[in-house]
Amino acid sequence: MSSFLIVAIDGGAASGKSSTSRALSERFNFLHVDTGSYYRAITAELLRRSLRVDQIDAVKAAIPSLHFGTQVDGRAARMEIGGRVVPEAEIRGPEVTAAVSHFAAIPEVRAALLAYQRGQADVARTHGFRGLVMEGRDIGSIIFPNADLRFYLHADVEARARRRELEGRADAVAERDRMDATRKTAPLVLASGAIDIDSTYLNLEQVVDKIAGLIAAKLG
Ligand code: DC
Repeated sequence: MSSFLIVAIDGGAASGKSSTSRALSERFNFLHVDTGSYYRAITAELLRRSLRVDQIDAVKAAIPSLHFGTQVDGRAARMEIGGRVVPEAEIRGPEVTAAVSHFAAIPEVRAALLAYQRGQADVARTHGFRGLVMEGRDIGSIIFPNADLRFYLHADVEARARRRELEGRADAVAERDRMDATRKTAPLVLASGAIDIDSTYLNLEQVVDKIAGLIAAKLG
């Protein structure tokens, strides 16, 4: 039995992590942290400053000036950069989606986010949430390897590409997965000991119910 729970959910692009994590945050009054949105916010800011992914030194030099903060919006945490939350429309747009895996592969970008992401557990506690559900690519392997529960969501690539198409969003799902899984620092992996869920033939409710049962058992 635990009074505050940390749940890690990793998986490839469009694997259903966000919808699942959001539903769980509502069911259990957990803070929902979408770390992909953090990499996206940083990417949007670096692009706004006209930095390209091949300008590694300039990107590294820009990192200390990003000044991260967190705004809690209902049960969702939003990253602030220099006191401003980068709008959803901007972070989900095609330019950011095409560039984000490249910026996320830069070790200094990942290092800048490490402590900040771990600190989201304190944000959740301070705001009175019963736990934290954090989704990404390296949450169960690097950020919270000792999380109370760690999951890895799978779905076949055609099913995932179809999900994005239905949402009307341009997204090279397979290419992003390839980049995210083959980078040197904190690649997308099924962390040892994580619970692997194949959602290809499950709907959202079925995935949420599976995970919720395990969370409820931990909460007692
Ligand atoms: O979850 P998403 O598709 O919005 O994530 C956008 C990108 O951010 C993804 O292609 C890789 C990167 N990312 C990462 O490297 N590590 C995380 N924990 C979360 C996202």
